Amino acid sequence: MTDLNGLTFYIETFGCQMNENDSELIAGLLAAAGARKAERFEDGQVVVVNTCAVRGKSEEKLFSYLGRLRSWKKKHGLVIGLAGCVAQLYREKILAKNPDVDFIVGPDNYHRLPEILSHGLGLKPVMTSSARDWNEDERQPFMRESLVSAYVTIMEGCDNFCAYCIVPFTRGREKFRPLRAILDELAGLARDGYKEVRFLGQNVNSYKDPETGALFQDLLKASDDIKEFKWIRFITSHPKNFTGEIAKTMARSKKVCRQLHLPLQSGSTMVLERMKRGYTREDYLETIRLLRSVMPGISLSTDIIVGFPGETEREFEETMSALEAIRFANIFSFRYSPRPGTAAAKLNDDVPFDVKRRRLLEVQKRQKAIQTEIHEGFIGRTIKVLCLGKSKKDERVYSGRNEGYQVVNFMSERNVIGRFVHVQVKDCGPYSLRGEFCGED
Ligand code: 5AD
Ligand code: SF4
Repeated sequence: MTDLNGLTFYIETFGCQMNENDSELIAGLLAAAGARKAERFEDGQVVVVNTCAVRGKSEEKLFSYLGRLRSWKKKHGLVIGLAGCVAQLYREKILAKNPDVDFIVGPDNYHRLPEILSHGLGLKPVMTSSARDWNEDERQPFMRESLVSAYVTIMEGCDNFCAYCIVPFTRGREKFRPLRAILDELAGLARDGYKEVRFLGQNVNSYKDPETGALFQDLLKASDDIKEFKWIRFITSHPKNFTGEIAKTMARSKKVCRQLHLPLQSGSTMVLERMKRGYTREDYLETIRLLRSVMPGISLSTDIIVGFPGETEREFEETMSALEAIRFANIFSFRYSPRPGTAAAKLNDDVPFDVKRRRLLEVQKRQKAIQTEIHEGFIGRTIKVLCLGKSKKDERVYSGRNEGYQVVNFMSERNVIGRFVHVQVKDCGPYSLRGEFCGED
């Protein structure tokens, strides 16, 4: 075992839940080799920046952060490492532009980090790979940020090649984790007292156990039987793989939350076709109807892209009308940005920036009003909340999520982190609910 005793490291994460989970893996691997995690980059001898390439904006954020690290390095010395998607994809460009970066490591090689760090800080290994079978040994151990809710990766990579998306190029083809290994991890998490698990993968609905052929719904059924877990969630689903069988399994389950993130991307069938999403507006609406018929009150969220090449005003209006018709509890919305190597990058990025900006603002403004209305409907109701921690803004305020994944803030005399509590909702904004603690579940 490589020895990193005495070394302190800090990890900065950009990007999605997948990246957050990868950072937990990196932290666990370094800690297992003897290194200690710092809470600020100023306290670390090594800073690992875990990057994301999914949108142009994430890349801009990375370069500005690297600028800050560079000035610190000049004065105080620092080893700078890049991990994650951008790192893997733009390694040559990054090293040419940022000679201060000491090493780069792609998502498939995190297990080699202790080795990189112990074999002389200053070398620049560039390691990347893409297609590969699942390797369970490389995925241990995690140093989880939360002691209440745990991410559990069930698959990685993506075979869908949506026209705008860089993920299949950065994360490679779909690789499924054996069900046996997932269930082992779940048993460990149950022993450690976790209350909630969130299954992770780029396209969890396409899950298929490489050993037995068990499907996503079989995984849901098996996890439903683990008595310690109270809530089970998963992200991300793909509308074209979201079957009636999965919806029915969710409905029958005692623990799978009545909540689903189902990226729509656009409300226009024409745009969806150009995006190569594999479903129409009607297909999506039909899935929503089915979900709501088997799980009335299910809380839905989505991703929206505005300004995809060729998006007309009329096509954009179809996205607006879909938001109106579906009334999502939450959305993540983005301006289209071309990503190198993708099919859409070859199309003319012809929606002017100002138009993209206006459309994004319109989407966000409408959604904000819808969310406020949905939240107002909670006022006066007492809801069950899993307390996940303290509010970042106020030490006295506890924060958690309800089954629908809404943020719920409340005050409590005693520490209720990790507990299910009842909160009577008194007030709300577009992004959270506030209420009074009424007792533990
Ligand atoms: N431009 C804008 N948004 C994008 N996304 C992915 N690729 C792009 C891109 N090139 C968004 C999609 C996806 C989310 C993770 O990021 O909405 O669901
Ligand atoms: Fe990207 Fe599409 Fe795969 Fe999602 S399903 S990761 S948007 S290619």
